[in-house]
Amino acid sequence: MTHPFAERLMAWYRRHARPLPWRNTRNPYYIWLSEIILQQTRVVQGQDYYLKFIETFPDVFALAKADEQQVLRLWQGLGYYTRARNLHYTAQYIATELNGKFPDTYQQLLQLRGVGKYTAAAIASFAFEEPVAVVDGNVYRVLARYFGEETDIASPKAYATFFALAQSLLPADQSATFNQAMMEFGAMQCVPVSPKCMFCPFQLECVAFATGRQAQLPVKQKK
Ligand code: ADE
Ligand code: SF4
Repeated sequence: MTHPFAERLMAWYRRHARPLPWRNTRNPYYIWLSEIILQQTRVVQGQDYYLKFIETFPDVFALAKADEQQVLRLWQGLGYYTRARNLHYTAQYIATELNGKFPDTYQQLLQLRGVGKYTAAAIASFAFEEPVAVVDGNVYRVLARYFGEETDIASPKAYATFFALAQSLLPADQSATFNQAMMEFGAMQCVPVSPKCMFCPFQLECVAFATGRQAQLPVKQKK
């Protein structure tokens, strides 16, 4: 049975999701591109780059064949150029070593250069509906507030704690929608400063709302 939190979250998502260009595809190459771009870039800026990249390099072979200067030129303005170099390297690896077949499991995706747990979970769920939870800053915030989870998000065990919680809520047959919904809810509703609690479907159960601790959750100790 789907957890009531997941039901309500996905109902909210169906009404409020922004129509972002990487959301209407199951193509792992497109999803990978979008997630690498969005790692350190805001959605508004990332959209233009994403569209430019898939137009210029419509598949992994096109990106693999490009020369690095062309990739870096297209990346200009996004910063963190290691991302662009890893992108190019990984495209060449997939094109030549894997004959263009994109890895299709979380564990295999984790092996790719530039792909960490977050990005592997995003690709595995969005493209292949593998039931693995994404955990990013949005997810920390939503879960910490809703459940009153006080684990310090800067601590070494934070990822495992929040991953287990997110994983326990994830509906196995709707991991793509659930994961997108978690991130969208954190980005648009349960925002860092002044979350929109007055119009929130979780008002009656949310621990942070009930106790007025929205500003204290998630806990993040200064290092
Ligand atoms: N940030 C990172 N990945 C995202 C996605 N798939 N949709 C919206 N924002 C994101
Ligand atoms: Fe976030 Fe407020 Fe909704 Fe709680 S009630 S989930 S703090 S927006």
